[in-house]
Amino acid sequence: MALNNFLDHIVHPDAQQYAEEHTSPENDTLHALNRWTHLNTPQPHMLSGHYQGKLLETISILLKPRRILEIGTYVGYSTACLGKGLAADGKIHCIEANEEYEEIIADTLKKAGLFDRTTVHIGLATEILPQLGNEKFDLVFIDADKINYLNYYQTIVPMMNANGILLIDNVLWNGKVLYEQRSGDKETETLKQLNDMIQNDPRVENILLTIRDGLMMCIKL
Ligand SMILES: C[S@@+](CC[C@H](N)C(=O)[O-])C[C@H]1O[C@@H](n2cnc3c(N)ncnc32)[C@H](O)[C@@H]1O
Repeated sequence: MALNNFLDHIVHPDAQQYAEEHTSPENDTLHALNRWTHLNTPQPHMLSGHYQGKLLETISILLKPRRILEIGTYVGYSTACLGKGLAADGKIHCIEANEEYEEIIADTLKKAGLFDRTTVHIGLATEILPQLGNEKFDLVFIDADKINYLNYYQTIVPMMNANGILLIDNVLWNGKVLYEQRSGDKETETLKQLNDMIQNDPRVENILLTIRDGLMMCIKL
């Protein structure tokens, strides 16, 4: 199969539209942030958006996490979704490399009622993760530079509580992980290695959800 419009072949576009029309709408804060992001940032497609965001919210509400970690915060959309079920005494650590987003992240967190329970780390995740000390996480979302995904996975699995959930975005990589045998493309190779590693990792149970660009969901055993 050609890679053109690969993601449209995962779920029929009409079915996807119907699914979104039958998914609870974004709240006012997230709806406004979604619009703002499309009007004011160069890569609005990076946003989790309504449908995937609602899944993040649902997982958080079910899990009631006390510690959440996010790598790749962008404007804070997914942070607000992940924080939906955060325990009253819970805490979020989110990491974003681009300091230009610091102000909008703070604004999003305030509107979502999460500002006082969130530490926003501006910098590279590879440098910040070792500074998190002995924190153990219940819910983790990896959604940043694909080249470091193996590294993030190996660092984070030992930092998770039993029954904690690890979500990793873009693991289908627009179909490249399926169809490119040896691409020489480092991101594709990394994601292929990661998916295979997770599949054989006795520390987790996993399901690759065919949502958007592929969302790997692991439960830490
Ligand atoms: C796909 S966007 C995140 C989208 C967001 N999680 C959401 O769902 O709305 C990826 C973000 O990761 C950030 N990023 C890229 N490399 C990073 C790194 N090494 N450390 C921390 N953040 C990084 C980018 O600046 C970008 O804002």
